[in-house]
Amino acid sequence: MLAQSATDFKRRKILITNALPYANGELHIGHMVGFLQADIWARFQRLRGHQVSFVGGDDQHGTPIMLGAEKQGISAQELIDQTEQSHLEALAAFHISLDNYTSTHAPENQELCNEIYQRLHDDGQIEVRTIMQAYDEEKGMFLPDRYVKGTCPKCKSADQYGDNCEVCGTTYDTTDLIEPYSVLSGKPPIEKASDHYFFTVSAFAEMLEQWRSSDALQPEIANKLAEWFEGGLRDWDISRDAPYWGFEIPNAPGKYFYVWLDAPIGYMASHKVLCKQSGDDWNEYWQAGSDTELYHFIGKDIVRFHTLFWPAMLHAAGFRIPTGVSVHGFLTVDGAKMSKSRGTFINAATYLEHLNPEYLRYYFAAKLGAGVVDMDLNLDDFIARVNSDIVGKMVNIASRCAGFISKRFDGQLANSLATLELQTSMQNASEKIAQQYENREFSQAMRSIMALADQANQYIDEKQPWVLIRDENSVAEVQEVCTVGLNAFRMLCIYLKPVLPELIKNAEAFLNVEPLSWVDLQQPLLDHKINRFKPLMTRIEPDAVNNMIEDSKESLQAEIDPNSPLGQDPISAEINYDEFAKVDLRVAEIVAAEHVEGADKLLQLTLDLGGEHRNVFAGIKSAYDPADLVGRKTVMVANLAPRKMRFGLSEGMVLAAGPGGDELFVLTPDDGAQAGMRVK
Ligand code: MSP
Ligand code: ZN
Repeated sequence: MLAQSATDFKRRKILITNALPYANGELHIGHMVGFLQADIWARFQRLRGHQVSFVGGDDQHGTPIMLGAEKQGISAQELIDQTEQSHLEALAAFHISLDNYTSTHAPENQELCNEIYQRLHDDGQIEVRTIMQAYDEEKGMFLPDRYVKGTCPKCKSADQYGDNCEVCGTTYDTTDLIEPYSVLSGKPPIEKASDHYFFTVSAFAEMLEQWRSSDALQPEIANKLAEWFEGGLRDWDISRDAPYWGFEIPNAPGKYFYVWLDAPIGYMASHKVLCKQSGDDWNEYWQAGSDTELYHFIGKDIVRFHTLFWPAMLHAAGFRIPTGVSVHGFLTVDGAKMSKSRGTFINAATYLEHLNPEYLRYYFAAKLGAGVVDMDLNLDDFIARVNSDIVGKMVNIASRCAGFISKRFDGQLANSLATLELQTSMQNASEKIAQQYENREFSQAMRSIMALADQANQYIDEKQPWVLIRDENSVAEVQEVCTVGLNAFRMLCIYLKPVLPELIKNAEAFLNVEPLSWVDLQQPLLDHKINRFKPLMTRIEPDAVNNMIEDSKESLQAEIDPNSPLGQDPISAEINYDEFAKVDLRVAEIVAAEHVEGADKLLQLTLDLGGEHRNVFAGIKSAYDPADLVGRKTVMVANLAPRKMRFGLSEGMVLAAGPGGDELFVLTPDDGAQAGMRVK
């Protein structure tokens, strides 16, 4: 952090990015961790007077997007356009202050990819090698690791991915799998040769070691890198064979850039588009030796791409390398991985239907530090923390003082403060708080700020303006006391502005001042007319949180990992016979099946259990036409506690098998089984 005083202020030029979300799914609150961290930091830097460019876009290429579009029966272009729209809406609603959003399929990105590739190629850093790869003959395409499954060679668990076993944790090559099959066709893949293009990362060992020991990385990430270096640097395969949804490699027909090559270049492309609009000089930022700053915010799952391949590629192509990469951990909800069945896999849009985005902004800020640590959204703590800190402490200061000023002094603040003590103590905290923001220790910053809010409330408690006002002789003092209180509130607004931009905008309107910035801490607001106070934030109602969780429980299927196209289905923990015997499985006949309005995944089934009828919502819409189900017998869990869903009560569960994702097979008993029979 650069020391900042009025005299030696140096305006920094800071370019900030957050990881580009994939264009094959909605944004969820896990994505918001990085966006909020980057946004709070960007807003802080702007508040301090620096020149910030915060750019983003969608990551629009790759196999899952190609196959996702195919499955939905739309073109990849249609899919990425729809998703971009929904992402932009969610980001705007969460007040993410991106200066530009240009996605990776944009022509500006293609041009840059070609240019960078050309530079690497001309410099001899691209090598063509023939590799053997799994190939699906029926589908006519090479299969990425995640699209081949089979039996683990070590522990013999079935249905494991081509790269590692989720049961015993062994990593292996796809070719080691026993009885491998393609997830796309179910057929065993063949091994087929193909020419691939490699970027010679190994040639940049020295430069990468320097980068590793610079202060661009968090210590735990630098250690991770050291481990990778010890294992030896491997060259990086940057090409994929057709059919592939991406950019074709120049002079290499049928070969495409691997999505992870063009994705980070997307940062440069988005910034280029911004510069065209703003007149800023793109080269000044990206040329080798640039003295502008470049920071990437990312999650812990994509470290290798950003701290190994990306700096090597930038350097090899003659560009600057990042000033810093800031890695955050993963979000859990109530102590566990986000889960669709528990309703804790919360889409940004679902959150926004129920809750104010600034609740989450504050809660994340209150929990985020600079380390690579997973962060838990504990829903009870979320309610308690926001209600107590923001509504109870911060906003309360204004509401306690504003009434007297409006009613008794015609909205006019006093022309001097009753005491300088609170003012001085709040000003004195400014460098500490700035340092905490600068170092991305937001949780520390929030603690410092709330301690100041406590001081302000204590001051008002001691002065008791509601008592003073009864005595004609101390009416003037009330004006001064409330002026101290409102000045404290104003300083808290400055401190919290990176976190609560909308609340502070309304507070500025109430205080009747221009947009606040950090330098405004230096002068108090005196002899000034304020506007009537309106509540700036209401308390979180626990019901709103409960409804959000209910609305997120759309699918009754096993959890699906959003980052894989397939979902993950490890064998569950062992249970004993008694536990098993509790599950009452019955043969049921599907007597009616219908679409559910507004549900993406559900069908509403009426099941006959030999006389008794049950209403069940089943997440099988992707695989079945309702008409084809009527009259079929299936197996259901008959004693599952009924569950209230957005669309009605679900009274049981139908059994279906599948690899995860949308492919599903409803179980059917052999002919002769009667509705109501117990399954043993
Ligand atoms: N498209 C790549 C990034 C390319 S950057 C040039 C990607 N996309 S993603 O949609 O899967 O993830 C986007 C970001 O969200 C990543 O930083 C990822 O770590 C983060 N998160 C995804 N799920 C998350 C949580 N549950 N918790 C916190 N961050 C999470 O990776
Ligand atoms: Zn195994």
